[in-house]
Amino acid sequence: KVSMQAEIAGISFDNLLLNAAGIRCSTVQDLNSILTSEAGGVVTKSATVEERAGNESPRMRALPLGSINSMGLPNHGFDYYMAYVLKAQSAGYNNVILSVAGLSPADDLLMLREIQQSGFDGLVELNLSCPNVKGKPQVGYDFAAVEQLLGEIFKFFDKRLGLKLPPYFDLTQFDEMAAIINQYPVTYVNSINSIGNGLVIDPVTETAVIKPKGGFGGLGGEYAKPTALANVRGFRQRLKPEIQMIGTGGIKSGMDVFEHVLCGADLVQIGTAFGSEGTPIFDRISQELQDIMIEKGYRRLADFRGKLKTL
Ligand code: DOR
Repeated sequence: KVSMQAEIAGISFDNLLLNAAGIRCSTVQDLNSILTSEAGGVVTKSATVEERAGNESPRMRALPLGSINSMGLPNHGFDYYMAYVLKAQSAGYNNVILSVAGLSPADDLLMLREIQQSGFDGLVELNLSCPNVKGKPQVGYDFAAVEQLLGEIFKFFDKRLGLKLPPYFDLTQFDEMAAIINQYPVTYVNSINSIGNGLVIDPVTETAVIKPKGGFGGLGGEYAKPTALANVRGFRQRLKPEIQMIGTGGIKSGMDVFEHVLCGADLVQIGTAFGSEGTPIFDRISQELQDIMIEKGYRRLADFRGKLKTL
């Protein structure tokens, strides 16, 4: 029997599989169905300070190799998700991650101050990488802004904070972002959010497949996996060891999870494939990963975590 037990900053998870923020996790009902599934934990839809309707529809399209979305952060607002995580915590769940995505640094600080003052003691994931809010660039691509924001946050925040980052593409970006993050007591880095501002078109109708932003949207699924693996690996090689990693991007099988762990992921999150398959995916992928581990003679995740070989 193999163990898929995982841990982040002293919080233990029965297995390493979570939903990615945003996927089927906007309502209490969605969140509870993940919580009571075979998933190891659940992440809330990224909250903004106020409730938002998000962008105009159609705003998501499933594709043969993944998905494109420009949801625009539709969510029930910070208070709704704060109430949910506090209730789950009271019921004994410590595996619920609260995701927040302010529309400005001031909004991030406001929500993090409220979390700091609350009784919530679980993991918080700060989304610095939403590509889909019109007029709002992805904070994660503005290195000076990230540095300034982290400086402000850690003046008062002493709970466990993870950062959800956009994909990076040049090794100097990995170097620079890791050097910034290493200055602060960040609990984990989660790579990657969707690959921002792709364009998928239907050549028959000569039309973009989603409506917002003239069709531009974040790519997930198979399109994203190699970029995700590179980001998990690239950050694992550069971050100080006490900063843990969550791998997100292109997971639809146990083998995909295995690859993310080889790159250094402590936990993984499933976006596009969970969106199309629903909660049964957690049981399926956990069975597949166990079979791979048995076949390879590994008994726990630590046996191969971060142990990718290169030529
Ligand atoms: O791809 C994404 N879509 N990433 C985010 O961070 C937010 C989400 C949305 O609501 O647009």
